[in-house]
Amino acid sequence: MQKTALITGGTSGLGKALAIKLAKKDYSVAIVGRDPERLRSVVEEASSHTKQVIKALPCEFANENEVDGLFEKAQQALGNSIELLVNNAGYSVLGSVEDVPLDEMKRCWNVNFVSAVNLTKQALPEMLKLKKGMIVNISSGTAFRAVPYESAYCSSKAALKSFSESLRVEVEKSGVQILIFSPGPLASSFFDARPKFGNSHSPSIPFKGQDPKSIAENLYKAILARKKVVTLGWKAQMVSHLNQFSPILVDKLMKRIYKT
Ligand SMILES: NC(=O)c1ccc[n+]([C@@H]2O[C@H](COP(=O)([O-])OP(=O)(O)OC[C@H]3O[C@@H](n4cnc5c(N)ncnc54)[C@H](OP(=O)(O)O)[C@@H]3O)[C@@H](O)[C@H]2O)c1
Repeated sequence: MQKTALITGGTSGLGKALAIKLAKKDYSVAIVGRDPERLRSVVEEASSHTKQVIKALPCEFANENEVDGLFEKAQQALGNSIELLVNNAGYSVLGSVEDVPLDEMKRCWNVNFVSAVNLTKQALPEMLKLKKGMIVNISSGTAFRAVPYESAYCSSKAALKSFSESLRVEVEKSGVQILIFSPGPLASSFFDARPKFGNSHSPSIPFKGQDPKSIAENLYKAILARKKVVTLGWKAQMVSHLNQFSPILVDKLMKRIYKT
């Protein structure tokens, strides 16, 4: 049986690493991103590992009307039903709630959350009809406990996590699988890509991001094992547990780390 996937944010970091991993495993892959040069290059690299169809689909997720119909376009490009949807595209905005304009926050929510909901709703009818398929939503440790100066990002990831939890129970008996995958920090272009507003605030503790290829390996194994929830990184897990116990204590920790 043909293995088929649609990956958003497939031009860089985790999405790119997963696209190449799936190509090596003989999936047909539709790769979505904005940058035409990066799209061309990842399609070329992925195609070198497989005889299956690898297609690029340019799309700006901040424009809702570009996302409408994208799932069907991807199925036409691959010439087949898509069984795996990975909602991975995402970015953050750096700045205080006071400094980041509302339009910038809405843009971040649209790219990280609304487009994932839109694609999920496009994918569901056929997956439910076929009684199979998997939707992977890439969330973040910040969905479990938000950090200061990235409120739009953290809230988008928390929304995506909540949405996925509702959906997971709704489709439990249908044969369609929902995975919420929350990686720890990645060594990708993510941090440099953040638009900045006002005085920049960064954590005073340096951290080392993980290689996207090794996280893509974790993600691939979670897909194969049909996992429902995977949260990577002991720091994120520890802060999440501590936050349940005492959010005020975590506030104090954040104030120290961000020197607010
Ligand atoms: N990096 C981390 O430390 C970290 C930690 C936890 C979770 N995550 C999550 O993991 C996912 C992948 O992150 P990453 O580190 O691999 O990031 P990345 O290297 O910056 O890649 C982000 C991807 O999203 C796409 N994208 C960004 N804005 C877009 C827009 N407006 N329209 C369409 N596509 C857009 C980019 O494609 P183009 O630029 O070609 O459009 C790119 O392919 C994200 O959802 C992120 O929130 C990351």
